[in-house]
Parts: sequence; structure tokens; C-alpha cells
Amino acid sequence: MTTTKYTFAKFSDNPFYGAVNGHLVDMADLQAGQQVVDLACGTGSVTQLIVDRLRGARDSVVIAMDHSATALRQAMENLRDARDAAVQFVQSHVEQLSENIKESSTDAIFFCNAIHYVSDKDALIAEVTKSLKPGGKFAFNTSFFDGGQPPESQPFYRKWMLKSSRILRREYGLSPSRSDKVESRKHLTPAEYRDLVERNGLTVVREEIDSVQVPLEGWLDISSFEDFIEGTMPGVPLDKASAALQEGVRQTYRELEISHVPRNWLDVIAVRN
Ligand SMILES: C[S@@+](CC[C@H](N)C(=O)[O-])C[C@H]1O[C@@H](n2cnc3c(N)ncnc32)[C@H](O)[C@@H]1O
Repeated sequence: MTTTKYTFAKFSDNPFYGAVNGHLVDMADLQAGQQVVDLACGTGSVTQLIVDRLRGARDSVVIAMDHSATALRQAMENLRDARDAAVQFVQSHVEQLSENIKESSTDAIFFCNAIHYVSDKDALIAEVTKSLKPGGKFAFNTSFFDGGQPPESQPFYRKWMLKSSRILRREYGLSPSRSDKVESRKHLTPAEYRDLVERNGLTVVREEIDSVQVPLEGWLDISSFEDFIEGTMPGVPLDKASAALQEGVRQTYRELEISHVPRNWLDVIAVRN
């Protein structure tokens, strides 16, 4: 897989991450011949999982959408060998779904690891509902929800952020700028997510918490993803913030003498009423 600096590609290659997303795709129980949309597809790792599940189904259509031209270019490159399902790539904000997808046309819509970025979640879910066929499925997951960080992992995050800020100040004389709480830090509870989808024309049929043990490599890789860096160290140049976060997490793992940190993913499947 080719990589571009500060994209999500490196993190998405982690085996635990593929397993988490693969589990959600399995939960959606895709069938041959369906039209499936992958919202916020990034560099295409979930799109690939969807295509793999539809293998042999030549009449399936997968539409992969993201607002980032860089991520989409990489997704196209990564999926160039996907022959069975027809994969279309669309550059768009997910909020403009209905401008790109016909009403009541889609069997399943995935939205992996990105719902926490959306500020008007009601408007987005209403768009999703409009695009789904009656009975069509909306599948989403996130580890940025109230419950994503088990209590025993709190000392890890505190130490990591403290160390990274110190390294940034000492090595580069920089500090993160105080900013409004970024969208991805406003964490909804599973019950709030359920209410959100159910007041917008969907019914939750499956909801699970998937517990994952994240190795050091996972945190090193997320520290080279632009959105994560900007969320944790707003206003700091990416290269310096990334270097400080990486050194900070290395030191934290060493001092705490740990090999993994637990993290929870919320998985939800909802169907259109
Ligand atoms: C963390 S990555 C997740 C990629 C992929 N869905 C996965 O689970 O591996 C988040 C992606 O969401 C995209 N994104 C964030 N907000 C978006 C929006 N409003 N419209 C379209 N794409 C968005 C980013 O460009 C990025 O590629």
C-alpha cells in the first residue's frame, strides 16, 4: 500500500483495526448484488473489506465517498485490483449525500470511524435515511464515544499528553493553542447515539461494544494522522506535533511497562423504518 504523509493509511494497516472494521462489516450481513455506500472512506480500508465480502458478486455497486482528494487518490490506488464489485469514488462532504445518491436507492451505508467529526449529526442521519431503501442498513462505528476509554486506560492518556506537551515545549519552544473543544472530543454515549438514529427514521437492530488491545504501533501510527494531531495539538505544525506525540507515547509505554492499552469501539447497525 502506498502512503502519503499524515494520512490515515498507516494506522488503518494495523491488524487490530482491520479486525474491528471487519466485525462491523460482518454485522451488516451484506448480500450479493447490493448497492453499498462507504461514507468517509479515507484511503479505502473499509471499502476493501466491503468489496471482499461481496466477492464474486459482479452486479454489486460500492460507492466510496470522502471530502479529501488526497485520501481518495490513495483509495483508488489501493482498490485498483477490485474487479468483482464496481467501485465508484466520489469527492464530497458526507453531509451532501443526497446530492450524490438517489433517494431510497441503497441497501447499506457504512460510516466508519468518522461520525464523531460531524457537527450536525441529525442532518447527516436524515440524509442517510433518505438514501436507504426501506429496510436498508446504516452501519457505523466509533472509538470516540463516552465509553471509548476504559477507566484503567486514563493514566495512560494523561501521562502521554503531559509528556508530549513537555517534549514540544522543550524541543521546539511550542505549545498547543487553546481552541474550542474540537468536534471529535465531544463524546456521545451509546444511548445518545441510539436516540440520534431513532429520531431520524431508523431502528437500531444491533449494538455492541468491541474491546480492543492497542499496541504501541497503533498509537505511533495515529500520531502521524493529520486529524488526530490537529485534535490533540491544535495550532502546532504537523511535523513537530507528530514527533512530540510519538516520543511521548514511547516514553509512556516504557515508564508504565505496558505492551497494550485497551480501547472500546461502539458498533451500531440500524435499519430504515
Ligand atoms: C478516521 S478516517 C476513517 C476512514 C475510514 N472510514 C476508516 O474507518 O478507516 C476519517 C475520514 O473521514 C473523512 N471525513 C471527515 N469529515 C468528513 C466529511 N464531513 N465529509 C466527508 N469526509 C469526511 C476524512 O477525510 C477521513 O478520510
